Amino acid sequence: MTDTAVLAELMTLVAPAKVLTDPASLQAYGTDWTRHYPPAPSAVVLPRTLEQVQAIVRWANRHQVALVPSGGRTGLSGAAVAAHGEVVVAFDLMNQIIGFDAVDRSVVCQPGVITRQLQAFAEENGLYYPVDFASSGSSQVGGNIGTNAGGIKVIRYGMTRNWVAGLKVVTGTGELLELNKGLVKNATGYDLRQLFIGAEGTLGFVVEATLRLERAPRNLTAMVLGTPDFDSIMPVLHAFQGQLDLTAFEFFSDKGLAHILARGDVPAPFETPCPFYALLEFEALNDEVAEQALATFERCVEQGWVLDGVMSQSETQLRNLWKLREYLSETISHFTPYKNDISVTVAKVPAFLREIDAVVSQHYPDFEVVWYGHIGDGNLHLNILKPAHLDKAAFFARCATVNQWVFEIVERYQGSISAEHGVGMIKRDYLHYSRSPAEIACMKAIKAVFDPNGILNPGKIFAPDHQ
Ligand code: MLT
Ligand code: ZN
Repeated sequence: MTDTAVLAELMTLVAPAKVLTDPASLQAYGTDWTRHYPPAPSAVVLPRTLEQVQAIVRWANRHQVALVPSGGRTGLSGAAVAAHGEVVVAFDLMNQIIGFDAVDRSVVCQPGVITRQLQAFAEENGLYYPVDFASSGSSQVGGNIGTNAGGIKVIRYGMTRNWVAGLKVVTGTGELLELNKGLVKNATGYDLRQLFIGAEGTLGFVVEATLRLERAPRNLTAMVLGTPDFDSIMPVLHAFQGQLDLTAFEFFSDKGLAHILARGDVPAPFETPCPFYALLEFEALNDEVAEQALATFERCVEQGWVLDGVMSQSETQLRNLWKLREYLSETISHFTPYKNDISVTVAKVPAFLREIDAVVSQHYPDFEVVWYGHIGDGNLHLNILKPAHLDKAAFFARCATVNQWVFEIVERYQGSISAEHGVGMIKRDYLHYSRSPAEIACMKAIKAVFDPNGILNPGKIFAPDHQ
Protein backbone atom coordinates (compact mmCIF):
# COMPACT_ATOMS: atom_id res chain seq x y z
CA MET A 1 0.00 0.00 0.00
CA THR A 2 1.19 3.49 -0.81
CA ASP A 3 1.85 5.43 2.41
CA THR A 4 0.15 8.69 3.37
CA ALA A 5 3.15 10.99 2.88
CA VAL A 6 3.70 9.62 -0.61
CA LEU A 7 0.03 10.11 -1.46
CA ALA A 8 0.19 13.67 -0.05
CA GLU A 9 2.99 14.37 -2.55
CA LEU A 10 0.79 12.97 -5.35
CA MET A 11 -1.92 15.47 -4.37
CA THR A 12 0.49 18.34 -5.01
CA LEU A 13 0.85 17.19 -8.64
CA VAL A 14 -2.87 17.43 -9.43
CA ALA A 15 -5.64 19.24 -7.56
CA PRO A 16 -6.06 17.44 -4.19
CA ALA A 17 -9.68 16.62 -5.03
CA LYS A 18 -8.41 14.67 -8.01
CA VAL A 19 -6.84 12.01 -5.82
CA LEU A 20 -9.56 9.69 -4.56
CA THR A 21 -9.19 7.24 -1.70
CA ASP A 22 -12.78 6.64 -0.61
CA PRO A 23 -13.85 2.96 -0.68
CA ALA A 24 -16.53 3.46 -3.37
CA SER A 25 -14.04 5.06 -5.80
CA LEU A 26 -11.38 2.43 -5.08
CA GLN A 27 -13.96 -0.27 -5.77
CA ALA A 28 -15.28 1.34 -8.96
CA TYR A 29 -11.97 2.39 -10.53
CA GLY A 30 -10.01 -0.69 -9.47
CA THR A 31 -11.81 -3.16 -11.68
CA ASP A 32 -13.11 -3.91 -15.19
CA TRP A 33 -15.95 -6.06 -16.51
CA THR A 34 -14.24 -9.36 -15.58
CA ARG A 35 -14.98 -9.23 -11.84
CA HIS A 36 -12.48 -12.10 -11.31
CA TYR A 37 -10.20 -10.16 -8.99
CA PRO A 38 -11.31 -8.10 -5.99
CA PRO A 39 -10.13 -4.52 -6.59
CA ALA A 40 -7.63 -3.15 -4.06
CA PRO A 41 -5.95 0.03 -5.32
CA SER A 42 -4.30 2.51 -2.90
CA ALA A 43 -5.72 5.54 -4.65
CA VAL A 44 -7.16 6.84 -7.89
CA VAL A 45 -5.65 9.89 -9.59
CA LEU A 46 -7.40 11.87 -12.32
CA PRO A 47 -4.95 13.96 -14.35
CA ARG A 48 -6.17 16.78 -16.60
CA THR A 49 -3.07 17.34 -18.73
CA LEU A 50 -0.32 15.29 -20.28
CA GLU A 51 2.20 17.21 -18.11
CA GLN A 52 0.34 15.93 -15.05
CA VAL A 53 0.57 12.38 -16.41
CA GLN A 54 4.34 12.85 -16.79
CA ALA A 55 4.58 14.17 -13.22
CA ILE A 56 2.57 11.21 -11.90
CA VAL A 57 4.84 8.69 -13.67
CA ARG A 58 7.98 10.42 -12.33
CA TRP A 59 6.48 10.44 -8.84
CA ALA A 60 5.75 6.71 -9.20
CA ASN A 61 9.37 6.07 -10.21
CA ARG A 62 10.69 8.02 -7.22
CA HIS A 63 8.58 5.97 -4.81
CA GLN A 64 8.37 2.64 -6.67
CA VAL A 65 4.59 2.84 -6.93
CA ALA A 66 2.85 0.68 -9.55
CA LEU A 67 0.36 2.50 -11.81
CA VAL A 68 -2.67 0.98 -13.54
CA PRO A 69 -4.26 2.94 -16.41
CA SER A 70 -8.03 3.09 -16.42
CA GLY A 71 -10.40 4.05 -19.25
CA GLY A 72 -14.04 2.96 -19.49
CA ARG A 73 -13.19 -0.26 -17.54
CA THR A 74 -15.08 -2.39 -20.05
CA GLY A 75 -12.13 -4.77 -20.54
CA LEU A 76 -12.58 -8.53 -20.36
CA SER A 77 -9.06 -9.68 -19.46
CA GLY A 78 -8.29 -7.94 -16.16
CA ALA A 79 -5.78 -5.60 -17.86
CA ALA A 80 -7.17 -2.53 -16.09
CA VAL A 81 -7.64 -4.19 -12.70
CA ALA A 82 -5.71 -2.85 -9.69
CA ALA A 83 -5.74 -5.76 -7.25
CA HIS A 84 -2.41 -5.20 -5.47
CA GLY A 85 -2.34 -1.71 -3.93
CA GLU A 86 -1.50 0.09 -7.20
CA VAL A 87 -2.48 3.68 -7.95
CA VAL A 88 -5.08 3.88 -10.71
CA VAL A 89 -4.53 6.62 -13.30
CA ALA A 90 -8.01 7.33 -14.68
CA PHE A 91 -8.34 9.41 -17.83
CA ASP A 92 -11.95 10.55 -17.36
CA LEU A 93 -10.97 14.24 -17.18
CA MET A 94 -8.89 14.12 -20.37
CA ASN A 95 -11.99 13.67 -22.47
CA GLN A 96 -11.86 16.30 -25.18
CA ILE A 97 -11.68 16.10 -28.95
CA ILE A 98 -8.99 18.71 -29.53
CA GLY A 99 -8.50 18.73 -33.29
CA PHE A 100 -10.13 17.86 -36.60
CA ASP A 101 -8.90 18.07 -40.15
CA ALA A 102 -11.46 17.53 -42.90
CA VAL A 103 -8.77 17.23 -45.60
CA ASP A 104 -6.77 14.59 -43.75
CA ARG A 105 -9.98 13.11 -42.37
CA SER A 106 -8.34 12.93 -38.96
CA VAL A 107 -9.37 13.75 -35.43
CA VAL A 108 -7.18 14.39 -32.39
CA CYS A 109 -8.54 12.88 -29.17
CA GLN A 110 -7.54 12.90 -25.55
CA PRO A 111 -7.48 9.35 -24.11
CA GLY A 112 -10.69 9.71 -22.10
CA VAL A 113 -12.88 10.43 -25.14
CA ILE A 114 -15.67 7.84 -25.17
CA THR A 115 -15.91 5.75 -28.34
CA ARG A 116 -19.51 6.83 -28.99
CA GLN A 117 -18.52 10.51 -28.52
CA LEU A 118 -15.91 10.01 -31.25
CA GLN A 119 -18.41 8.21 -33.50
CA ALA A 120 -20.95 11.02 -33.01
CA PHE A 121 -18.31 13.68 -33.74
CA ALA A 122 -17.35 11.88 -36.97
CA GLU A 123 -21.02 11.69 -37.97
CA GLU A 124 -21.57 15.41 -37.30
CA ASN A 125 -18.76 16.04 -39.74
CA GLY A 126 -20.16 13.71 -42.42
CA LEU A 127 -17.61 11.01 -41.63
CA TYR A 128 -17.40 7.72 -39.78
CA TYR A 129 -15.24 6.09 -37.10
CA PRO A 130 -15.67 2.43 -37.95
CA VAL A 131 -14.35 0.54 -34.93
CA ASP A 132 -17.51 -0.47 -33.09
CA PHE A 133 -18.57 -2.86 -30.35
CA ALA A 134 -21.25 -3.31 -27.73
CA SER A 135 -19.32 -1.32 -25.09
CA SER A 136 -18.86 1.79 -27.28
CA GLY A 137 -21.07 3.82 -24.91
CA SER A 138 -18.50 3.49 -22.08
CA SER A 139 -15.14 2.44 -23.56
CA GLN A 140 -12.53 5.17 -24.02
CA VAL A 141 -10.11 5.85 -26.85
CA GLY A 142 -7.04 5.24 -24.64
CA GLY A 143 -8.36 1.82 -23.61
CA ASN A 144 -9.30 0.97 -27.20
CA ILE A 145 -5.72 1.69 -28.24
CA GLY A 146 -4.28 -0.17 -25.26
CA THR A 147 -6.21 -3.28 -26.21
CA ASN A 148 -6.22 -2.75 -30.01
CA ALA A 149 -10.00 -3.11 -29.78
CA GLY A 150 -11.75 -5.00 -32.58
CA GLY A 151 -15.49 -5.65 -32.53
CA ILE A 152 -18.20 -6.12 -35.11
CA LYS A 153 -16.83 -4.34 -38.21
CA VAL A 154 -13.33 -5.82 -38.39
CA ILE A 155 -14.13 -7.85 -41.52
CA ARG A 156 -14.37 -4.58 -43.47
CA TYR A 157 -12.41 -1.99 -41.47
CA GLY A 158 -9.84 -3.88 -39.39
CA MET A 159 -8.89 -3.30 -35.76
CA THR A 160 -8.18 -0.03 -33.88
CA ARG A 161 -4.55 -0.23 -35.08
CA ASN A 162 -5.67 0.57 -38.65
CA TRP A 163 -7.11 3.91 -37.55
CA VAL A 164 -4.27 5.24 -35.37
CA ALA A 165 -2.32 7.81 -37.38
CA GLY A 166 -0.36 9.29 -34.50
CA LEU A 167 0.16 8.86 -30.77
CA LYS A 168 1.54 10.85 -27.90
CA VAL A 169 2.58 8.53 -25.09
CA VAL A 170 4.20 8.96 -21.69
CA THR A 171 6.64 6.10 -21.15
CA GLY A 172 7.53 4.43 -17.86
CA THR A 173 10.26 7.02 -17.22
CA GLY A 174 7.91 9.96 -17.75
CA GLU A 175 9.31 10.74 -21.22
CA LEU A 176 6.83 12.12 -23.78
CA LEU A 177 7.08 10.46 -27.21
CA GLU A 178 5.29 11.87 -30.26
CA LEU A 179 4.88 8.97 -32.65
CA ASN A 180 4.17 9.26 -36.40
CA LYS A 181 2.48 12.68 -36.09
CA GLY A 182 -0.53 11.75 -38.23
CA LEU A 183 1.49 10.87 -41.32
CA VAL A 184 0.26 8.39 -43.93
CA LYS A 185 3.77 7.67 -45.20
CA ASN A 186 6.76 7.63 -42.90
CA ALA A 187 9.69 5.33 -43.68
CA THR A 188 12.07 6.47 -40.97
CA GLY A 189 12.85 3.23 -39.21
CA TYR A 190 10.94 1.47 -36.46
CA ASP A 191 7.29 2.47 -36.18
CA LEU A 192 7.19 2.73 -32.37
CA ARG A 193 3.54 3.77 -32.49
CA GLN A 194 2.59 0.16 -33.26
CA LEU A 195 4.26 -1.11 -30.07
CA PHE A 196 1.97 0.93 -27.86
CA ILE A 197 -1.19 -0.29 -29.61
CA GLY A 198 -2.34 -3.43 -27.82
CA ALA A 199 0.37 -3.09 -25.13
CA GLU A 200 -2.29 -2.80 -22.39
CA GLY A 201 -0.56 0.21 -20.83
CA THR A 202 2.57 -1.79 -20.00
CA LEU A 203 4.93 0.35 -22.11
CA GLY A 204 3.41 3.81 -21.83
CA PHE A 205 0.18 5.71 -21.26
CA VAL A 206 -1.54 7.16 -24.32
CA VAL A 207 -2.12 10.88 -23.67
CA GLU A 208 -3.27 11.90 -27.17
CA ALA A 209 -4.23 10.05 -30.33
CA THR A 210 -4.72 11.13 -33.92
CA LEU A 211 -7.30 8.83 -35.47
CA ARG A 212 -8.36 8.49 -39.09
CA LEU A 213 -11.97 8.73 -40.12
CA GLU A 214 -13.71 7.11 -43.10
CA ARG A 215 -16.56 8.05 -45.43
CA ALA A 216 -19.89 7.23 -43.80
CA PRO A 217 -21.50 3.98 -45.02
CA ARG A 218 -24.77 4.38 -46.93
CA ASN A 219 -28.04 2.52 -46.42
CA LEU A 220 -26.64 -0.21 -44.17
CA THR A 221 -28.80 -3.31 -44.42
CA ALA A 222 -28.64 -6.42 -42.25
CA MET A 223 -29.77 -10.00 -42.78
CA VAL A 224 -30.17 -12.65 -40.12
CA LEU A 225 -30.04 -16.18 -41.52
CA GLY A 226 -30.75 -19.41 -39.63
CA THR A 227 -28.55 -22.39 -40.51
CA PRO A 228 -29.18 -26.11 -39.87
CA ASP A 229 -25.71 -26.65 -38.38
CA PHE A 230 -22.47 -24.85 -37.76
CA ASP A 231 -20.82 -26.19 -40.91
CA SER A 232 -23.33 -24.35 -43.13
CA ILE A 233 -22.22 -20.92 -41.85
CA MET A 234 -18.94 -20.84 -43.77
CA PRO A 235 -20.39 -21.60 -47.23
CA VAL A 236 -22.94 -18.86 -46.51
CA LEU A 237 -20.06 -16.47 -45.76
CA HIS A 238 -18.31 -17.44 -49.01
CA ALA A 239 -21.50 -17.11 -51.05
CA PHE A 240 -22.19 -13.58 -49.76
CA GLN A 241 -18.56 -12.47 -49.89
CA GLY A 242 -18.47 -13.51 -53.53
CA GLN A 243 -21.30 -11.06 -54.30
CA LEU A 244 -21.12 -8.20 -51.77
CA ASP A 245 -18.65 -6.15 -49.76
CA LEU A 246 -19.74 -7.15 -46.27
CA THR A 247 -19.40 -4.68 -43.40
CA ALA A 248 -20.05 -7.45 -40.83
CA PHE A 249 -20.48 -11.20 -40.62
CA GLU A 250 -21.31 -12.39 -37.11
CA PHE A 251 -22.76 -15.58 -35.68
CA PHE A 252 -24.54 -16.79 -32.55
CA SER A 253 -26.07 -20.05 -31.39
CA ASP A 254 -29.69 -20.88 -30.51
CA LYS A 255 -28.72 -20.77 -26.81
CA GLY A 256 -27.53 -17.19 -27.26
CA LEU A 257 -30.76 -16.26 -29.03
CA ALA A 258 -32.84 -17.85 -26.25
CA HIS A 259 -31.15 -15.58 -23.68
CA ILE A 260 -31.82 -12.50 -25.83
CA LEU A 261 -35.49 -13.39 -26.36
CA ALA A 262 -35.91 -14.06 -22.63
CA ARG A 263 -35.19 -10.35 -22.02
CA GLY A 264 -38.53 -9.55 -23.63
CA ASP A 265 -37.39 -6.35 -25.35
CA VAL A 266 -35.99 -7.73 -28.63
CA PRO A 267 -38.22 -9.25 -31.33
CA ALA A 268 -37.39 -12.72 -32.71
CA PRO A 269 -35.96 -12.52 -36.25
CA PHE A 270 -38.37 -15.23 -37.54
CA GLU A 271 -40.30 -18.27 -36.28
CA THR A 272 -38.19 -21.20 -37.59
CA PRO A 273 -35.94 -22.51 -34.81
CA CYS A 274 -32.33 -22.98 -36.01
CA PRO A 275 -29.23 -24.17 -34.13
CA PHE A 276 -27.07 -21.32 -35.48
CA TYR A 277 -27.64 -17.84 -36.89
CA ALA A 278 -25.49 -15.61 -39.07
CA LEU A 279 -25.89 -11.84 -39.04
CA LEU A 280 -24.46 -10.09 -42.07
CA GLU A 281 -24.47 -6.47 -43.08
CA PHE A 282 -23.73 -4.58 -46.28
CA GLU A 283 -24.31 -1.20 -47.88
CA ALA A 284 -27.36 -1.45 -50.12
CA LEU A 285 -26.09 1.31 -52.39
CA ASN A 286 -28.80 0.64 -54.97
CA ASP A 287 -31.65 -1.80 -55.72
CA GLU A 288 -29.29 -4.06 -57.62
CA VAL A 289 -27.23 -4.74 -54.46
CA ALA A 290 -30.36 -5.61 -52.45
CA GLU A 291 -31.52 -7.93 -55.27
CA GLN A 292 -28.11 -9.60 -55.34
CA ALA A 293 -28.37 -10.18 -51.58
CA LEU A 294 -31.81 -11.76 -51.97
CA ALA A 295 -30.64 -13.94 -54.87
CA THR A 296 -27.69 -15.13 -52.77
CA PHE A 297 -30.05 -15.87 -49.88
CA GLU A 298 -32.23 -18.00 -52.21
CA ARG A 299 -29.18 -19.87 -53.48
CA CYS A 300 -28.16 -20.62 -49.86
CA VAL A 301 -31.67 -21.94 -49.14
CA GLU A 302 -31.56 -24.18 -52.24
CA GLN A 303 -28.20 -25.56 -51.12
CA GLY A 304 -29.66 -26.38 -47.71
CA TRP A 305 -27.26 -24.01 -45.91
CA VAL A 306 -30.02 -21.67 -44.74
CA LEU A 307 -33.40 -22.61 -43.24
CA ASP A 308 -34.93 -19.17 -42.89
CA GLY A 309 -33.90 -15.52 -43.04
CA VAL A 310 -34.89 -11.90 -42.80
CA MET A 311 -33.56 -8.67 -44.31
CA SER A 312 -33.95 -5.27 -42.64
CA GLN A 313 -36.24 -2.83 -44.45
CA SER A 314 -35.79 0.17 -42.15
CA GLU A 315 -33.38 1.73 -39.63
CA THR A 316 -35.49 0.31 -36.79
CA GLN A 317 -35.36 -3.21 -38.22
CA LEU A 318 -31.61 -2.85 -38.75
CA ARG A 319 -31.17 -1.84 -35.10
CA ASN A 320 -33.41 -4.66 -33.87
CA LEU A 321 -31.48 -7.29 -35.82
CA TRP A 322 -28.21 -5.98 -34.41
CA LYS A 323 -29.62 -6.21 -30.86
CA LEU A 324 -29.76 -10.00 -31.31
CA ARG A 325 -25.97 -10.00 -31.45
CA GLU A 326 -24.93 -6.85 -29.61
CA TYR A 327 -26.93 -7.52 -26.44
CA LEU A 328 -25.42 -11.00 -25.96
CA SER A 329 -22.41 -10.05 -23.88
CA GLU A 330 -24.35 -7.94 -21.40
CA THR A 331 -27.28 -10.40 -21.25
CA ILE A 332 -25.19 -13.44 -20.35
CA SER A 333 -22.95 -11.44 -17.98
CA HIS A 334 -25.56 -12.15 -15.26
CA PHE A 335 -24.58 -15.86 -15.46
CA THR A 336 -20.92 -15.16 -14.57
CA PRO A 337 -19.59 -16.55 -17.86
CA TYR A 338 -16.12 -17.98 -18.22
CA LYS A 339 -15.09 -16.33 -21.47
CA ASN A 340 -12.71 -17.48 -24.14
CA ASP A 341 -11.90 -15.25 -27.09
CA ILE A 342 -10.03 -17.37 -29.62
CA SER A 343 -9.16 -17.01 -33.30
CA VAL A 344 -7.77 -18.89 -36.27
CA THR A 345 -7.53 -18.04 -39.95
CA VAL A 346 -11.01 -18.10 -41.50
CA ALA A 347 -10.37 -21.21 -43.61
CA LYS A 348 -9.60 -23.23 -40.47
CA VAL A 349 -12.72 -22.15 -38.54
CA PRO A 350 -15.01 -25.17 -39.21
CA ALA A 351 -12.50 -27.88 -38.25
CA PHE A 352 -11.26 -25.79 -35.33
CA LEU A 353 -14.71 -25.17 -33.90
CA ARG A 354 -15.63 -28.85 -34.23
CA GLU A 355 -12.57 -29.90 -32.21
CA ILE A 356 -13.10 -27.27 -29.55
CA ASP A 357 -16.79 -28.07 -29.29
CA ALA A 358 -16.01 -31.79 -28.82
CA VAL A 359 -13.61 -31.05 -25.95
CA VAL A 360 -16.00 -28.61 -24.35
CA SER A 361 -19.02 -30.92 -24.51
CA GLN A 362 -16.95 -33.82 -23.17
CA HIS A 363 -15.64 -31.85 -20.19
CA TYR A 364 -18.57 -29.55 -19.48
CA PRO A 365 -21.57 -31.84 -20.09
CA ASP A 366 -23.43 -30.14 -17.24
CA PHE A 367 -22.59 -26.52 -18.20
CA GLU A 368 -24.43 -24.32 -20.65
CA VAL A 369 -22.15 -23.25 -23.51
CA VAL A 370 -22.99 -20.15 -25.55
CA TRP A 371 -21.09 -19.58 -28.81
CA TYR A 372 -21.07 -16.28 -30.66
CA GLY A 373 -18.56 -14.08 -32.36
CA HIS A 374 -17.04 -12.41 -35.35
CA ILE A 375 -16.83 -15.49 -37.49
CA GLY A 376 -16.15 -13.50 -40.67
CA ASP A 377 -12.69 -12.69 -39.32
CA GLY A 378 -12.06 -16.03 -37.56
CA ASN A 379 -12.83 -14.82 -34.01
CA LEU A 380 -15.01 -17.07 -31.83
CA HIS A 381 -16.30 -16.26 -28.36
CA LEU A 382 -16.80 -19.35 -26.23
CA ASN A 383 -18.82 -18.58 -23.10
CA ILE A 384 -19.38 -21.17 -20.38
CA LEU A 385 -22.17 -20.11 -18.02
CA LYS A 386 -21.88 -20.77 -14.32
CA PRO A 387 -24.59 -23.08 -12.96
CA ALA A 388 -26.41 -21.40 -10.07
CA HIS A 389 -25.44 -24.14 -7.58
CA LEU A 390 -21.65 -23.81 -8.11
CA ASP A 391 -19.69 -21.12 -6.34
CA LYS A 392 -17.55 -18.79 -8.45
CA ALA A 393 -14.15 -20.11 -7.34
CA ALA A 394 -15.05 -23.77 -7.94
CA PHE A 395 -16.55 -22.89 -11.33
CA PHE A 396 -13.52 -20.91 -12.52
CA ALA A 397 -11.18 -23.65 -11.27
CA ARG A 398 -13.00 -26.25 -13.38
CA CYS A 399 -12.94 -23.98 -16.41
CA ALA A 400 -9.23 -23.35 -15.98
CA THR A 401 -8.53 -27.10 -16.14
CA VAL A 402 -10.34 -27.47 -19.44
CA ASN A 403 -8.62 -24.35 -20.79
CA GLN A 404 -5.46 -26.33 -21.19
CA TRP A 405 -7.10 -28.64 -23.75
CA VAL A 406 -8.82 -25.77 -25.52
CA PHE A 407 -5.53 -23.90 -25.83
CA GLU A 408 -3.65 -26.99 -27.02
CA ILE A 409 -6.06 -27.06 -29.95
CA VAL A 410 -5.58 -23.31 -30.48
CA GLU A 411 -1.81 -23.87 -30.58
CA ARG A 412 -2.10 -26.76 -33.03
CA TYR A 413 -4.18 -24.57 -35.35
CA GLN A 414 -1.66 -21.71 -34.93
CA GLY A 415 -4.44 -19.57 -33.56
CA SER A 416 -4.63 -16.93 -30.85
CA ILE A 417 -5.65 -17.45 -27.23
CA SER A 418 -6.91 -13.86 -27.24
CA ALA A 419 -8.22 -12.46 -30.50
CA GLU A 420 -9.44 -9.10 -29.22
CA HIS A 421 -10.03 -9.06 -25.45
CA GLY A 422 -6.32 -8.91 -24.59
CA VAL A 423 -4.14 -10.89 -22.19
CA GLY A 424 -4.29 -8.87 -18.98
CA MET A 425 -4.12 -11.14 -15.96
CA ILE A 426 -6.70 -13.68 -17.09
CA LYS A 427 -4.81 -15.03 -20.09
CA ARG A 428 -1.21 -14.29 -19.13
CA ASP A 429 -0.42 -17.83 -17.94
CA TYR A 430 -1.53 -19.13 -21.34
CA LEU A 431 0.46 -16.69 -23.46
CA HIS A 432 2.95 -19.43 -24.44
CA TYR A 433 0.23 -21.21 -26.42
CA SER A 434 0.28 -18.33 -28.93
CA ARG A 435 3.74 -16.77 -28.49
CA SER A 436 7.11 -18.58 -28.62
CA PRO A 437 9.69 -18.28 -25.80
CA ALA A 438 11.84 -16.15 -28.11
CA GLU A 439 8.92 -13.79 -28.79
CA ILE A 440 8.09 -13.51 -25.08
CA ALA A 441 11.75 -12.74 -24.33
CA CYS A 442 11.66 -9.93 -26.95
CA MET A 443 8.44 -8.57 -25.45
CA LYS A 444 10.03 -8.48 -21.98
CA ALA A 445 13.13 -6.77 -23.38
CA ILE A 446 10.92 -4.12 -25.03
CA LYS A 447 9.10 -3.61 -21.72
CA ALA A 448 12.45 -3.01 -20.02
CA VAL A 449 13.35 -0.31 -22.59
CA PHE A 450 10.21 1.75 -22.07
CA ASP A 451 9.55 0.97 -18.41
CA PRO A 452 12.88 0.04 -16.78
CA ASN A 453 11.51 0.22 -13.22
CA GLY A 454 8.39 -1.85 -13.92
CA ILE A 455 6.03 0.97 -12.92
CA LEU A 456 3.42 0.62 -15.65
CA ASN A 457 0.68 -1.97 -15.19
CA PRO A 458 2.91 -4.71 -13.75
CA GLY A 459 1.62 -8.26 -13.88
CA LYS A 460 -0.34 -7.70 -17.09
CA ILE A 461 0.47 -9.68 -20.27
CA PHE A 462 3.15 -11.57 -18.33
CA ALA A 463 3.83 -12.15 -14.64
CA PRO A 464 6.39 -9.76 -13.10
CA ASP A 465 9.84 -11.38 -12.97
CA HIS A 466 9.92 -11.54 -9.16
CA GLN A 467 6.75 -13.72 -8.97
C1 MLT B 1 -18.55 -9.26 -28.19
O1 MLT B 1 -18.18 -9.66 -29.28
O2 MLT B 1 -19.75 -9.21 -27.87
C2 MLT B 1 -17.53 -8.74 -27.24
O3 MLT B 1 -16.25 -9.16 -27.60
C3 MLT B 1 -17.81 -9.05 -25.81
C4 MLT B 1 -17.94 -10.51 -25.48
O4 MLT B 1 -17.27 -11.33 -26.07
O5 MLT B 1 -18.68 -10.84 -24.57
ZN1 ZN C 1 -16.15 -9.67 -29.63
